This record gives sequence, structure tokens and C-alpha cells, in this order.
Amino acid sequence: MCGIIGYNGSSDPKEILIDGLKRLEYRGYDSAGIAILEKEHVDVYRSKGRIEKLEDKLVGKHFTGSLGIGHTRWATHGAPNEINAHPHRVGSVTLVHNGIIENYLDLKEALKAQKRKIASETDTEIVAHLFDIEIQKGSSLQNAVRAVIPQLKGSYAFVVMSDQEPDVLLGVRHGAPLLVGIGEKENFLASDVQAILHRTNKVIYLNDDEYVICRKKSVEVFNFNGQPVQFEIKTIQWTPDQMEKGGYRHFMLKEIYEQGQAVANTLENKIDLAKGLVSIPELQKHLDLLKRVKSISIVACGTARHAALVGKYYIEKFARVAVDVDFGSEFRYRDPILDKESLTILISQSGETADTLAAQKEAKLKGVKTLAICNVRESTLARESDMVIYTQAGPEIGVASTKAFTTQLVVLYLVALELGLMRGALTEAQAREYTSDVLKLPFLIENTLSLEQKVEQISSHLQKKDFFFYLGRDVNYPIALEGSLKLKEISYAHAEGYPAGEIKHGPIALIDKKVATIVLTPSATSSETNPDTTSGILYEKMMSNLQEVKSRGGMIISIGSGEDKKLTNESNFYLGIPKTTWALNPILLTIPLQLLAYHVAVGRGTDVDKPRNLAKSVTVE
Ligand code: G6P
Repeated sequence: MCGIIGYNGSSDPKEILIDGLKRLEYRGYDSAGIAILEKEHVDVYRSKGRIEKLEDKLVGKHFTGSLGIGHTRWATHGAPNEINAHPHRVGSVTLVHNGIIENYLDLKEALKAQKRKIASETDTEIVAHLFDIEIQKGSSLQNAVRAVIPQLKGSYAFVVMSDQEPDVLLGVRHGAPLLVGIGEKENFLASDVQAILHRTNKVIYLNDDEYVICRKKSVEVFNFNGQPVQFEIKTIQWTPDQMEKGGYRHFMLKEIYEQGQAVANTLENKIDLAKGLVSIPELQKHLDLLKRVKSISIVACGTARHAALVGKYYIEKFARVAVDVDFGSEFRYRDPILDKESLTILISQSGETADTLAAQKEAKLKGVKTLAICNVRESTLARESDMVIYTQAGPEIGVASTKAFTTQLVVLYLVALELGLMRGALTEAQAREYTSDVLKLPFLIENTLSLEQKVEQISSHLQKKDFFFYLGRDVNYPIALEGSLKLKEISYAHAEGYPAGEIKHGPIALIDKKVATIVLTPSATSSETNPDTTSGILYEKMMSNLQEVKSRGGMIISIGSGEDKKLTNESNFYLGIPKTTWALNPILLTIPLQLLAYHVAVGRGTDVDKPRNLAKSVTVE
């Protein structure tokens, strides 16, 4: 949600800021701007729309200064236009901001009473005024920040420069991410490591309620009381070429294809190969709690919440612990019933989603241990949790989440197995078999990807449809939700995911020949150790639901297991995923659904990697 970059060094700041903003664009892309401090003045360029629009304005402009800030916006306060775009300049202060100042209306009234002219509708400009007031009194940036912070309510990260201190960038973090990149005689500030990773992999993650004074050759970090803070410089393991498209037309497609490898990486270190059993090192410190835990809450947003819903099936089936799943934005407002014998699992690709972080805070306030399943190292969620398991998906850049989701499912599967084993809900023989099943997953994913051509053909029949149903039952029901979310996010078609048995209670009224229905009807392999008792029944039930839609004229695209004559005959289009178990079906089913959403969106000509109105990381509540 909004991307920030700051630069203090000797290279061309225009190029560094624009390049950084392009890499941050996934955080918001409705307007953008940069400001560069020149010898006698500050040049501010802003524009509505994507970074390219800003670049057009900068053609032929040359800068001699070496201090600059940039911003890409996802509008919260004020329309996405040039006046509301950042940086905001007031007096001798120039500032970019990510987050929300909740008391900005009160502050605005107070500023108006002091006859200050407010140019934009944003909460950000108000903060620039507050800094300007302090600087006009003769304060340094460092003293100004200590006077401004107590006046603000909300969550924010700022980068500020003052004409009076041409060698200083000030960065502030309170509830929104900000990090410092350490270079050779140059330093950076950024919302996310992606903005600077190709320039340095040495990073200081600011903690909440810290600010940094960033000079060309030095960095000092302070807490909000003004006391210096010791910091650690970490080395990032992700490589810059992981951030490139690598020959694919879109990041989303590349990330769909990376899923086999991402799953293999996620499995690494979590299986004791000698014993053939799952063994997650990250859980070992809390075995006592995990053995006696009476209930589990899983909280997440968007795609990660769909993973949580699958996790509920896994944990309840394998470990026999009751699980409830909630939205990050709902959890803390319902005063959830949590006690010390419960566990809260938070799932987030970015580890910076404000609603998920708020849920984590709520659980901690109630004295409950938290386990984070997260993709980004050192993210706020990861750092604040008692236990962290990283999905090893690598950087995910497409706004629509793909490989983060499938790797989250893999982690949840492993956690459920480990819990089941330690609590005696699974025998060792069962756990061994489930463990050996999941080791085949990377290979099965590669096979499933070979459906792409067929998916592309099918999607050419779907371009003009404006309404889609996704139906599934049991552990595949959350995949119906995820499939429909993928489609609406990137193709802007209306899509609804439903438990198939529920459509007769209302939604079936919508079915006619204009509607396309995607029916998830896999069968499941089973064995003596792990007999599958439900899939057979559910397969038949799904067939009945399919008939209910078909007899009302709806188009049917069904996804089943392997060759399935019955489903092929009853459907307009059929896709067969490789045959696998009950628990792994959801992971394989996800892949044709991602590909379907992708090809429908490409056919419709939307901006697949940066769909309208969305942002990859939502750091406002
Ligand atoms: C945004 C993204 C979604 C994502 C959700 C949760 O809405 O557009 O794709 O699923 O945030 O993000 P997280 O980083 O917490 O998984």
C-alpha cells in the first residue's frame, strides 16, 4: 500500500528513484512522484497514473543534487490526481508517506485556524505542515520529528527532507514498513527490499517506533524517545534476477510456473528423510504447547485466508484439533474467545498486511502464542511471532497471489501432519505415507502445468462471459473461492465461489446460458493405511450439482482427476489433473484455475500484473 523510496548518495537520483518506484509499483499505482534536492531549490514532479506517466514528464530533465525521495500511491485520502500525489512540499519540507493519519481532520482544522493553506485532500500534507512549523522555529529534522510524532494517530512510514539539511534523509516507522539499504558511500530508504535489492543486499529493518537519520556515509537509528538504538545489518538471500520476468509475458505466469520449485524449496528441511516423517524445526521449541493445544484460530486476508480455510480441513482431519478461520479485518472486533491453551496462526505472503498484524496483536494481548506462515523474511508479522515458518516461494511480484498460496497450503499440510503425529491422532505409518505423498507434489505440479494449452483454448470461449460460478465441496470448496477470487482480481468479471451443495439455497436462481460454472470434481487415491471414505460420495454429489446447473442451461467447465469419461460427457469442457490424494487435490486444482484466470484476463486485455484498484501489500486497515 503505497511505495516509498529515498536516496542519499552520489549517483543520478532520478534514475535510482524511478527505477525503485517501478519495482514498488505493485504496492499502489494510481499516481507517483519524485522530489530531488538541488543546490538552490527542490524539484518536485508528480503525475496521475503509472510511473511511465511520471517518466514522460522527466524526459530531458537533469539533476545535479544527490538527495531525493519518491512515492507510488494507492489512494486512501483524496482522489488519485496530481495534487494529491506525493511528495508533498510545504515551506522547506518535502515528504512522502505510506499509511493513514487517523486524526488528520482535527489536525487540519487546527492548521487552518493558524491560517495555513492546505493544497491537497490528503492526510500526508498535514504532516508536512507539522514538520514545517517545527523547522520554521529553527528545529533540526531530528528535533522536529520528536515534536511531530506525539501529534499523530494512526499508522505510518515517512521519508522527509528539509532544505536546511541537504545531507539528511529522515525515515520514520510506526505501523508501516520501512527499511534502510546500506550501500558504498550511499544509503537508501524503502518500503520494501525489492526497490533496492539490485543495488545492495545489506539491509537494516527498522522496528516500529523508530526513526533513522540517513546520511551518505552513515546511518543512525533512534527510538521515539530520541535514544540511539543498536541495529543489525542483515544480508538478503533473494537475488535480483528473481525479481525479473525471465522471458515470461507476465510475472503472474512466471510465478504460476515456479510453483513446482517453490513447493520443493518449501519442503526442504521439513522432512526427516531418514525416518520418512515430517519434522518442522521451527515448531520444536513449542512442542509442549502444540501437544496440549485445545483449539486453533487461523487468521488471514484475501488469498491467504483461502489457504487458512484449507488448513482447517487439514488440521481437523489429521490432528483432530478444532480450528476456526477468520478474516484479519474481523477477528479483533469480535473479542475472540482465546485462552492460553489455544494457538493463533497468521498467514500472510507479505507479512505486512495491516489487518493480519492487528489480529496478531489481539492474540498476543490475550496471551496466546502465535505461529506465522509468511513468505517475506524479517517482515513485521514474522518478527512479532513466537514461531515462524517461511514459505520458500521467493519474491512474488504479480498482484494476484499464486505460488505464495500453494506453498502456504504445503506448510499447513505439514503442520497438520506434525500436530497429528505428536498428538497421536495419526499413526506413524499414516504420517509416513502422507509425508511420502507430499514429496511427489513438485512433480505432480509440473504435470498439471502441461494443461496450459488446453486451458488457453477453453478460456477463449469465456472472454465474453460476465458471470462465473466456482463450485466445490469439502476441502476443495476453499479452492472454488480462490479460483473465483483470481478471476475477479485480474479479469474484472463477476465470479462467486460456493460450496456446491449450497447453490440450491439461492444462487441457482442466477443460472442461465450466460453463466459459466467451473465445477471441481476430483476423485482421490487412497490406500489401506489411509482409506478415503468421503471422496466417492462427494464425487457423486458433485455430479448431481453439475446436473442441476446443466439442466438450467449453464455452461460447465469441470476439473476432475485424470481421464474421466463421465465428467467429460456431462461437461462443455473438461480438464483432468493428475490423480492424487484427498489432501493434495486442492493444491493441484489451484493450478488450472490460476491459468484460467490468467488467460481470460489476457484475452480481455487487462493489466494482469497490476489490476485496477488493487495493491499487493495492503498496509492500511
Ligand atoms: C492483498 C492482495 C491479495 C492478498 C492479500 C493478503 O489484497 O491483493 O492478493 O491475498 O492482500 O496479503 P498477504 O500479504 O497478507 O498474504
